[in-house]
Amino acid sequence: MINLKQIAKVYSTAAGQLPVLEAVDLMIVPDDRVSIVGPSGSGKSTLLHILGLLDTPTSGTLEFDGQWPLELDEAAQARFRNEKIGFIFQDHCLLPQCTVLENVLAPTLVGKSDPAAKDRAQELLRRVGLTSRLQHRPAELSGGEKQRVAIARALIRQPKLLLCDEPTGNLDERTAAEVTDLLLELQHEAGNIIVVVTHSKTLAQRMDRQFAMVNRRLEEAQ
Ligand SMILES: Nc1ncnc2c1ncn2[C@@H]1O[C@H](COP(=O)(O)OP(=O)(O)O)[C@@H](O)[C@H]1O
Ligand SMILES: [Mg+2]
Repeated sequence: MINLKQIAKVYSTAAGQLPVLEAVDLMIVPDDRVSIVGPSGSGKSTLLHILGLLDTPTSGTLEFDGQWPLELDEAAQARFRNEKIGFIFQDHCLLPQCTVLENVLAPTLVGKSDPAAKDRAQELLRRVGLTSRLQHRPAELSGGEKQRVAIARALIRQPKLLLCDEPTGNLDERTAAEVTDLLLELQHEAGNIIVVVTHSKTLAQRMDRQFAMVNRRLEEAQ
């Protein structure tokens, strides 16, 4: 279970204090599929980064499976993130000099050695239809293929929580639908919690719980 309580975020900028989130509460239970929509600049990525321990809130608490990751030091927080959280961004963020297989394995290179990782990576790449592309570099792939590599990479550590920021934002409608199908199929099998931030109504509506950012707060659609 993940529980955000009274999360606020204020950025300090040259132009002064910029409040972005205010009193955001969100409780997510295992298997939940959550979407968050809202106009550009409404704080969706900020909230996702806080959930993913990539940014810290100005105030508020985050409980994650009975632990309080915001209270850990930086190194312990990085380990926590690497073990429990997978990320998929709009821009795939693959390492350009590495092969498809190496990209998927990258999250397993930190921490304890994981001898089963390579088999798992190959199986995930089979599931996303890229068995014939293991030794290719990202530049040799289409946008949809790159995003499928990003899905495999996000799932390689079998994370509790899968965070997606505009995962289909750079894809045409048909490719977006295919990538979404794959993402939800693999998420369902693994039982990860998924939180998707998106502009796309179509993608948002495929989640069971739909939220919108409204005036710096999160509102759940009934
Ligand atoms: N690191 C930062 N420093 C200052 N302002 C920021 C920073 N990151 C985001 N912002 C501002 O916070 C607001 C929300 O940004 P963001 O969370 O990226 O929105 P969204 O993802 O909904 O488009 C925007 O006005 C943006 O300019
Ligand atoms: Mg954003």
